[in-house]
Amino acid sequence: MPEYLIPFNKPSLTGNELLYVADAIRRGHIAGDGSFTRKCRELLERELGAAAVLLTTSCTHALEMAALLLDIQPGDEVIVPSFTFVSTVNAFVLRGAVPVFADIRPDTLNLDEAHLEGKLTPRTKAIVPVHYAGVGCEMDTILPLAKRHGIAVVEDNAHGLFARYRGRYLGTFGCLATQSFHETKNIVCGEGGALLVNDPSFVERAEIIREKGTNRARFFRGQVDKYTWVDVGSSFLMSDMLAAYLRAQLESRELITARRRRIWEFYHEALDEWAAVHDVQVPTPPPHCEQAYHMFYLVLPSLEIRQDLILHLKARGILSVFHYVPLHLSEMGMKFGGRPGQCPVTERVSSCLLRLPFYNDLAASEQAEVVQAILQFPMPVRCVASAS
Ligand SMILES: Cc1ncc(COP(=O)(O)O)c(C=O)c1O
Repeated sequence: MPEYLIPFNKPSLTGNELLYVADAIRRGHIAGDGSFTRKCRELLERELGAAAVLLTTSCTHALEMAALLLDIQPGDEVIVPSFTFVSTVNAFVLRGAVPVFADIRPDTLNLDEAHLEGKLTPRTKAIVPVHYAGVGCEMDTILPLAKRHGIAVVEDNAHGLFARYRGRYLGTFGCLATQSFHETKNIVCGEGGALLVNDPSFVERAEIIREKGTNRARFFRGQVDKYTWVDVGSSFLMSDMLAAYLRAQLESRELITARRRRIWEFYHEALDEWAAVHDVQVPTPPPHCEQAYHMFYLVLPSLEIRQDLILHLKARGILSVFHYVPLHLSEMGMKFGGRPGQCPVTERVSSCLLRLPFYNDLAASEQAEVVQAILQFPMPVRCVASAS
Protein backbone atom coordinates (compact mmCIF):
# COMPACT_ATOMS: atom_id res chain seq x y z
CA MET A 1 0.00 0.00 0.00
CA PRO A 2 1.65 3.28 -1.04
CA GLU A 3 1.99 6.09 1.49
CA TYR A 4 -0.35 8.93 0.73
CA LEU A 5 0.27 12.56 1.67
CA ILE A 6 -3.44 12.88 2.21
CA PRO A 7 -4.98 9.56 3.26
CA PHE A 8 -8.65 8.79 2.89
CA ASN A 9 -9.23 8.32 6.61
CA LYS A 10 -7.23 8.92 9.78
CA PRO A 11 -8.56 8.36 13.29
CA SER A 12 -7.97 11.27 15.65
CA LEU A 13 -8.02 11.91 19.38
CA THR A 14 -10.39 14.56 20.67
CA GLY A 15 -9.19 14.88 24.27
CA ASN A 16 -9.72 12.27 26.97
CA GLU A 17 -9.39 9.00 25.07
CA LEU A 18 -6.02 7.89 26.49
CA LEU A 19 -6.87 9.12 29.97
CA TYR A 20 -10.08 7.09 30.05
CA VAL A 21 -8.44 3.96 28.61
CA ALA A 22 -5.76 4.19 31.33
CA ASP A 23 -8.53 4.67 33.89
CA ALA A 24 -10.33 1.51 32.67
CA ILE A 25 -7.09 -0.45 33.05
CA ARG A 26 -6.40 1.04 36.50
CA ARG A 27 -9.88 0.07 37.66
CA GLY A 28 -9.08 -3.51 36.70
CA HIS A 29 -12.16 -3.96 34.53
CA ILE A 30 -11.46 -4.19 30.82
CA ALA A 31 -13.98 -6.89 29.85
CA GLY A 32 -17.51 -5.93 28.80
CA ASP A 33 -20.16 -4.01 30.73
CA GLY A 34 -17.83 -2.01 32.99
CA SER A 35 -18.32 1.58 34.09
CA PHE A 36 -17.39 3.11 30.71
CA THR A 37 -19.90 0.91 28.91
CA ARG A 38 -22.52 2.11 31.39
CA LYS A 39 -21.54 5.75 30.81
CA CYS A 40 -21.75 5.40 27.02
CA ARG A 41 -25.05 3.60 27.34
CA GLU A 42 -26.52 6.29 29.60
CA LEU A 43 -25.31 9.11 27.38
CA LEU A 44 -26.74 7.54 24.23
CA GLU A 45 -30.04 6.56 25.86
CA ARG A 46 -30.48 10.05 27.30
CA GLU A 47 -29.50 11.87 24.12
CA LEU A 48 -31.36 9.67 21.63
CA GLY A 49 -34.29 8.66 23.80
CA ALA A 50 -33.97 4.94 22.94
CA ALA A 51 -35.45 2.40 25.38
CA ALA A 52 -32.02 0.74 25.57
CA VAL A 53 -28.64 1.11 23.91
CA LEU A 54 -26.45 -1.99 24.02
CA LEU A 55 -22.81 -1.55 23.05
CA THR A 56 -21.57 -4.30 20.76
CA THR A 57 -18.34 -5.40 19.14
CA SER A 58 -19.47 -3.98 15.78
CA CYS A 59 -22.43 -2.74 13.77
CA THR A 60 -22.29 -6.12 12.02
CA HIS A 61 -22.92 -7.85 15.34
CA ALA A 62 -25.70 -5.41 16.24
CA LEU A 63 -27.37 -6.34 12.93
CA GLU A 64 -26.94 -10.03 13.75
CA MET A 65 -28.58 -9.41 17.11
CA ALA A 66 -31.47 -7.69 15.32
CA ALA A 67 -31.97 -10.73 13.09
CA LEU A 68 -32.02 -13.01 16.16
CA LEU A 69 -34.45 -10.72 18.00
CA LEU A 70 -36.84 -10.70 15.05
CA ASP A 71 -36.69 -14.49 14.97
CA ILE A 72 -35.82 -14.52 11.30
CA GLN A 73 -36.41 -18.03 9.93
CA PRO A 74 -35.18 -19.78 6.76
CA GLY A 75 -37.17 -18.49 3.79
CA ASP A 76 -38.20 -15.21 5.42
CA GLU A 77 -37.66 -12.25 3.12
CA VAL A 78 -35.84 -9.09 4.12
CA ILE A 79 -35.85 -6.01 1.90
CA VAL A 80 -32.46 -4.27 1.76
CA PRO A 81 -30.88 -1.72 -0.56
CA SER A 82 -28.40 -3.32 -2.94
CA PHE A 83 -26.17 -0.28 -2.42
CA THR A 84 -24.88 -1.00 1.06
CA PHE A 85 -22.20 -2.78 3.06
CA VAL A 86 -22.41 -6.56 3.07
CA SER A 87 -23.30 -6.77 6.79
CA THR A 88 -26.68 -5.08 6.24
CA VAL A 89 -27.82 -8.21 4.46
CA ASN A 90 -25.45 -10.92 5.68
CA ALA A 91 -26.76 -10.62 9.24
CA PHE A 92 -30.17 -11.79 8.02
CA VAL A 93 -28.87 -14.33 5.51
CA LEU A 94 -27.01 -15.99 8.41
CA ARG A 95 -30.45 -16.87 9.81
CA GLY A 96 -31.59 -18.27 6.46
CA ALA A 97 -33.36 -15.17 5.16
CA VAL A 98 -33.72 -14.45 1.47
CA PRO A 99 -32.53 -10.92 0.63
CA VAL A 100 -34.81 -8.90 -1.62
CA PHE A 101 -32.71 -6.17 -3.18
CA ALA A 102 -34.20 -2.74 -3.72
CA ASP A 103 -32.77 0.10 -5.75
CA ILE A 104 -31.81 3.51 -4.38
CA ARG A 105 -33.05 7.04 -5.03
CA PRO A 106 -30.80 8.91 -7.45
CA ASP A 107 -30.73 12.02 -5.22
CA THR A 108 -29.86 10.82 -1.70
CA LEU A 109 -28.65 7.32 -2.73
CA ASN A 110 -30.98 5.96 -0.03
CA LEU A 111 -33.35 3.02 -0.36
CA ASP A 112 -36.03 4.11 -2.85
CA GLU A 113 -39.21 3.93 -0.83
CA ALA A 114 -41.31 4.01 -4.02
CA HIS A 115 -40.14 0.45 -4.84
CA LEU A 116 -41.04 -1.09 -1.49
CA GLU A 117 -44.72 -1.88 -1.98
CA GLY A 118 -43.95 -3.93 -5.11
CA LYS A 119 -41.42 -6.06 -3.23
CA LEU A 120 -43.71 -7.15 -0.39
CA THR A 121 -44.82 -10.75 -0.17
CA PRO A 122 -46.47 -12.73 2.64
CA ARG A 123 -42.92 -13.81 3.62
CA THR A 124 -41.56 -10.28 4.08
CA LYS A 125 -40.33 -10.02 7.66
CA ALA A 126 -38.26 -6.83 7.72
CA ILE A 127 -37.16 -3.74 5.83
CA VAL A 128 -33.63 -2.49 6.52
CA PRO A 129 -33.24 1.13 5.43
CA VAL A 130 -29.62 2.34 5.40
CA HIS A 131 -29.24 6.06 6.07
CA TYR A 132 -26.53 6.49 3.48
CA ALA A 133 -23.90 9.12 4.31
CA GLY A 134 -25.90 9.95 7.43
CA VAL A 135 -28.83 11.41 5.49
CA GLY A 136 -32.21 10.05 6.53
CA CYS A 137 -34.25 7.68 4.38
CA GLU A 138 -37.86 8.71 3.75
CA MET A 139 -39.17 7.35 7.04
CA ASP A 140 -42.54 9.13 6.54
CA THR A 141 -43.28 6.60 3.79
CA ILE A 142 -41.35 3.56 5.04
CA LEU A 143 -42.78 3.42 8.58
CA PRO A 144 -46.53 3.58 7.76
CA LEU A 145 -46.06 1.03 4.96
CA ALA A 146 -44.24 -1.36 7.31
CA LYS A 147 -46.87 -0.85 9.99
CA ARG A 148 -49.74 -1.52 7.56
CA HIS A 149 -48.17 -4.86 6.63
CA GLY A 150 -46.90 -5.82 10.10
CA ILE A 151 -43.25 -5.74 9.03
CA ALA A 152 -40.33 -4.78 11.26
CA VAL A 153 -38.07 -1.85 10.38
CA VAL A 154 -34.40 -2.15 11.38
CA GLU A 155 -32.43 1.01 10.62
CA ASP A 156 -28.82 0.47 9.60
CA ASN A 157 -27.56 3.78 10.94
CA ALA A 158 -23.83 3.00 10.68
CA HIS A 159 -23.23 6.41 9.05
CA GLY A 160 -25.79 8.57 10.81
CA LEU A 161 -25.34 8.85 14.58
CA PHE A 162 -26.83 12.18 15.78
CA ALA A 163 -28.27 13.04 12.36
CA ARG A 164 -31.99 13.81 12.20
CA TYR A 165 -34.96 13.26 9.92
CA ARG A 166 -37.67 15.90 10.38
CA GLY A 167 -36.09 16.84 13.71
CA ARG A 168 -35.96 13.29 15.11
CA TYR A 169 -32.72 11.35 15.55
CA LEU A 170 -31.96 8.64 13.02
CA GLY A 171 -31.91 5.29 14.77
CA THR A 172 -35.08 6.05 16.75
CA PHE A 173 -37.64 5.20 14.04
CA GLY A 174 -37.39 1.42 13.64
CA CYS A 175 -38.11 -1.11 16.39
CA LEU A 176 -34.33 -1.67 16.27
CA ALA A 177 -31.40 0.28 14.85
CA THR A 178 -27.66 -0.25 14.61
CA GLN A 179 -24.62 2.03 14.90
CA SER A 180 -20.97 1.60 13.97
CA PHE A 181 -17.92 2.96 15.80
CA HIS A 182 -15.48 1.49 13.29
CA GLU A 183 -12.46 3.74 12.71
CA THR A 184 -13.91 5.07 9.47
CA LYS A 185 -17.03 6.48 11.15
CA ASN A 186 -17.59 9.90 12.76
CA ILE A 187 -17.32 8.69 16.35
CA VAL A 188 -14.97 5.76 16.74
CA CYS A 189 -13.28 3.28 19.05
CA GLY A 190 -11.47 1.12 16.48
CA GLU A 191 -14.06 -1.61 16.11
CA GLY A 192 -17.41 -1.23 17.82
CA GLY A 193 -21.11 -0.76 17.46
CA ALA A 194 -24.41 -0.45 19.26
CA LEU A 195 -27.88 -1.88 19.06
CA LEU A 196 -30.56 0.74 19.68
CA VAL A 197 -33.68 -0.91 21.05
CA ASN A 198 -36.67 1.36 20.53
CA ASP A 199 -39.37 -1.22 21.19
CA PRO A 200 -39.11 -1.91 24.96
CA SER A 201 -40.48 -5.43 24.51
CA PHE A 202 -37.13 -6.42 22.94
CA VAL A 203 -34.88 -5.09 25.72
CA GLU A 204 -34.66 -8.12 28.00
CA ARG A 205 -34.08 -10.62 25.19
CA ALA A 206 -31.52 -8.29 23.57
CA GLU A 207 -29.53 -8.31 26.82
CA ILE A 208 -29.65 -12.11 26.87
CA ILE A 209 -28.61 -12.54 23.23
CA ARG A 210 -25.70 -10.15 23.76
CA GLU A 211 -24.53 -12.16 26.81
CA LYS A 212 -24.10 -15.58 25.17
CA GLY A 213 -27.75 -16.51 25.70
CA THR A 214 -27.58 -16.07 29.47
CA ASN A 215 -29.51 -13.91 31.91
CA ARG A 216 -26.26 -12.48 33.29
CA ALA A 217 -27.50 -8.87 33.04
CA ARG A 218 -30.42 -9.70 35.34
CA PHE A 219 -28.01 -11.43 37.73
CA PHE A 220 -25.82 -8.29 37.93
CA ARG A 221 -28.92 -6.22 38.68
CA GLY A 222 -29.75 -8.61 41.52
CA GLN A 223 -32.96 -9.78 39.78
CA VAL A 224 -31.95 -13.48 39.87
CA ASP A 225 -29.62 -15.22 42.32
CA LYS A 226 -27.59 -17.06 39.66
CA TYR A 227 -27.25 -16.74 35.94
CA THR A 228 -27.83 -19.50 33.46
CA TRP A 229 -28.35 -20.35 29.78
CA VAL A 230 -31.87 -19.25 28.80
CA ASP A 231 -31.84 -18.55 25.04
CA VAL A 232 -29.63 -18.46 21.94
CA GLY A 233 -26.95 -15.79 21.87
CA SER A 234 -23.31 -15.03 21.38
CA SER A 235 -20.52 -12.85 22.75
CA PHE A 236 -21.43 -9.41 21.47
CA LEU A 237 -20.03 -7.25 24.32
CA MET A 238 -17.64 -4.39 23.67
CA SER A 239 -14.51 -4.39 25.88
CA ASP A 240 -14.63 -1.61 28.49
CA MET A 241 -11.23 -0.43 27.21
CA LEU A 242 -12.85 0.40 23.90
CA ALA A 243 -15.89 1.84 25.67
CA ALA A 244 -13.49 4.16 27.53
CA TYR A 245 -12.14 5.43 24.22
CA LEU A 246 -15.68 5.70 22.90
CA ARG A 247 -16.84 7.64 25.94
CA ALA A 248 -14.25 10.35 25.24
CA GLN A 249 -15.36 10.55 21.61
CA LEU A 250 -19.02 10.76 22.58
CA GLU A 251 -18.25 13.60 24.98
CA SER A 252 -16.68 15.46 22.06
CA ARG A 253 -19.58 14.80 19.69
CA GLU A 254 -20.34 18.48 19.13
CA LEU A 255 -16.72 19.29 18.36
CA ILE A 256 -16.51 16.31 15.98
CA THR A 257 -19.68 17.32 14.16
CA ALA A 258 -18.51 20.95 13.91
CA ARG A 259 -15.18 19.86 12.40
CA ARG A 260 -16.84 17.53 9.94
CA ARG A 261 -19.38 20.15 9.00
CA ARG A 262 -16.58 22.57 8.15
CA ILE A 263 -14.89 19.90 5.99
CA TRP A 264 -18.12 19.03 4.20
CA GLU A 265 -18.98 22.68 3.54
CA PHE A 266 -15.47 23.41 2.27
CA TYR A 267 -15.78 20.65 -0.36
CA HIS A 268 -19.31 21.69 -1.22
CA GLU A 269 -18.50 25.34 -1.73
CA ALA A 270 -15.27 24.65 -3.62
CA LEU A 271 -16.67 22.00 -5.96
CA ASP A 272 -20.31 22.94 -6.47
CA GLU A 273 -19.81 25.04 -9.58
CA TRP A 274 -17.23 22.67 -11.12
CA ALA A 275 -19.64 19.80 -10.52
CA ALA A 276 -22.53 21.58 -12.25
CA VAL A 277 -20.40 22.39 -15.29
CA HIS A 278 -19.08 18.84 -15.61
CA ASP A 279 -22.24 16.89 -14.92
CA VAL A 280 -20.96 15.61 -11.58
CA GLN A 281 -23.40 14.94 -8.75
CA VAL A 282 -22.41 16.13 -5.27
CA PRO A 283 -24.37 15.31 -2.10
CA THR A 284 -27.41 17.51 -1.62
CA PRO A 285 -29.30 16.49 1.52
CA PRO A 286 -32.97 17.48 1.47
CA PRO A 287 -33.90 20.35 3.83
CA HIS A 288 -35.81 18.05 6.21
CA CYS A 289 -32.66 15.96 6.80
CA GLU A 290 -30.06 17.24 9.23
CA GLN A 291 -27.10 15.18 8.05
CA ALA A 292 -24.22 13.62 10.02
CA TYR A 293 -21.46 15.05 7.76
CA HIS A 294 -20.17 11.54 7.38
CA MET A 295 -18.73 11.75 3.87
CA PHE A 296 -18.33 13.80 0.73
CA TYR A 297 -18.70 12.02 -2.59
CA LEU A 298 -18.75 12.78 -6.30
CA VAL A 299 -20.89 10.81 -8.73
CA LEU A 300 -18.90 11.17 -11.95
CA PRO A 301 -20.30 10.84 -15.48
CA SER A 302 -18.72 7.42 -16.11
CA LEU A 303 -16.64 4.59 -14.67
CA GLU A 304 -13.69 5.54 -16.91
CA ILE A 305 -13.68 9.12 -15.60
CA ARG A 306 -13.92 7.86 -12.02
CA GLN A 307 -10.97 5.51 -12.48
CA ASP A 308 -8.89 8.22 -14.20
CA LEU A 309 -9.64 10.66 -11.39
CA ILE A 310 -8.54 8.11 -8.78
CA LEU A 311 -5.19 7.73 -10.61
CA HIS A 312 -4.87 11.51 -11.06
CA LEU A 313 -5.35 12.04 -7.30
CA LYS A 314 -3.07 9.13 -6.45
CA ALA A 315 -0.27 10.66 -8.53
CA ARG A 316 -0.60 13.72 -6.26
CA GLY A 317 -0.46 11.66 -3.07
CA ILE A 318 -4.20 11.77 -2.42
CA LEU A 319 -6.21 8.65 -1.65
CA SER A 320 -9.82 8.60 -2.82
CA VAL A 321 -11.96 5.47 -2.62
CA PHE A 322 -15.15 4.01 -4.03
CA HIS A 323 -17.84 1.66 -2.74
CA TYR A 324 -20.19 -0.33 -2.67
CA VAL A 325 -20.12 -3.22 -5.13
CA PRO A 326 -23.86 -3.77 -5.79
CA LEU A 327 -24.91 -6.63 -3.54
CA HIS A 328 -27.33 -8.07 -6.10
CA LEU A 329 -24.37 -8.52 -8.49
CA SER A 330 -21.98 -9.99 -5.91
CA GLU A 331 -21.19 -13.71 -5.95
CA MET A 332 -23.63 -14.28 -3.08
CA GLY A 333 -26.24 -11.85 -4.41
CA MET A 334 -26.37 -13.69 -7.76
CA LYS A 335 -27.10 -16.93 -5.87
CA PHE A 336 -30.24 -15.18 -4.63
CA GLY A 337 -31.27 -14.34 -8.19
CA GLY A 338 -29.49 -11.00 -8.58
CA ARG A 339 -28.94 -10.02 -12.20
CA PRO A 340 -27.65 -7.01 -14.14
CA GLY A 341 -30.25 -4.31 -14.72
CA GLN A 342 -32.22 -5.18 -11.57
CA CYS A 343 -31.17 -2.04 -9.68
CA PRO A 344 -30.07 0.41 -12.38
CA VAL A 345 -29.42 3.41 -10.10
CA THR A 346 -27.28 1.27 -7.79
CA GLU A 347 -25.33 -0.08 -10.74
CA ARG A 348 -24.61 3.39 -12.15
CA VAL A 349 -23.75 4.96 -8.80
CA SER A 350 -21.53 2.06 -7.81
CA SER A 351 -19.47 2.53 -11.00
CA CYS A 352 -19.28 6.31 -10.79
CA LEU A 353 -19.10 7.26 -7.09
CA LEU A 354 -15.86 8.51 -5.56
CA ARG A 355 -15.34 9.42 -1.90
CA LEU A 356 -12.90 12.19 -1.05
CA PRO A 357 -10.55 12.22 1.98
CA PHE A 358 -12.66 12.98 5.05
CA TYR A 359 -11.51 12.82 8.66
CA ASN A 360 -11.79 15.04 11.71
CA ASP A 361 -8.21 16.35 11.51
CA LEU A 362 -8.21 17.06 7.77
CA ALA A 363 -6.65 20.53 7.54
CA ALA A 364 -8.07 23.25 5.31
CA SER A 365 -4.70 23.40 3.50
CA GLU A 366 -4.90 19.66 2.74
CA GLN A 367 -8.46 20.02 1.55
CA ALA A 368 -7.39 22.90 -0.68
CA GLU A 369 -4.85 20.52 -2.26
CA VAL A 370 -7.55 17.91 -2.89
CA VAL A 371 -9.81 20.52 -4.46
CA GLN A 372 -6.98 21.98 -6.54
CA ALA A 373 -6.10 18.52 -7.85
CA ILE A 374 -9.72 17.87 -8.83
CA LEU A 375 -10.03 21.24 -10.59
CA GLN A 376 -6.85 20.42 -12.56
CA PHE A 377 -8.20 17.05 -13.67
CA PRO A 378 -8.82 17.14 -17.44
CA MET A 379 -12.53 16.36 -17.52
CA PRO A 380 -13.75 15.29 -20.96
CA VAL A 381 -15.73 18.01 -22.73
CA ARG A 382 -19.45 17.46 -22.24
CA CYS A 383 -21.45 16.54 -25.34
CA VAL A 384 -24.23 19.13 -25.55
CA ALA A 385 -27.00 18.23 -27.99
CA SER A 386 -27.37 20.85 -30.70
CA ALA A 387 -30.61 22.83 -30.68
CA SER A 388 -31.33 22.34 -34.38
C1 LIG B 1 -24.00 0.82 6.02
C2 LIG B 1 -23.09 -0.02 6.86
N1 LIG B 1 -23.62 -0.94 7.67
C3 LIG B 1 -22.86 -1.72 8.46
C4 LIG B 1 -21.48 -1.60 8.45
C5 LIG B 1 -20.66 -2.51 9.32
O1 LIG B 1 -20.09 -1.80 10.38
P1 LIG B 1 -19.00 -2.50 11.34
O2 LIG B 1 -17.69 -2.40 10.68
O3 LIG B 1 -19.08 -1.69 12.62
O4 LIG B 1 -19.44 -3.90 11.56
C6 LIG B 1 -20.87 -0.65 7.61
C7 LIG B 1 -19.41 -0.52 7.60
O5 LIG B 1 -18.82 0.32 7.00
C8 LIG B 1 -21.70 0.16 6.80
O6 LIG B 1 -21.17 1.07 5.96
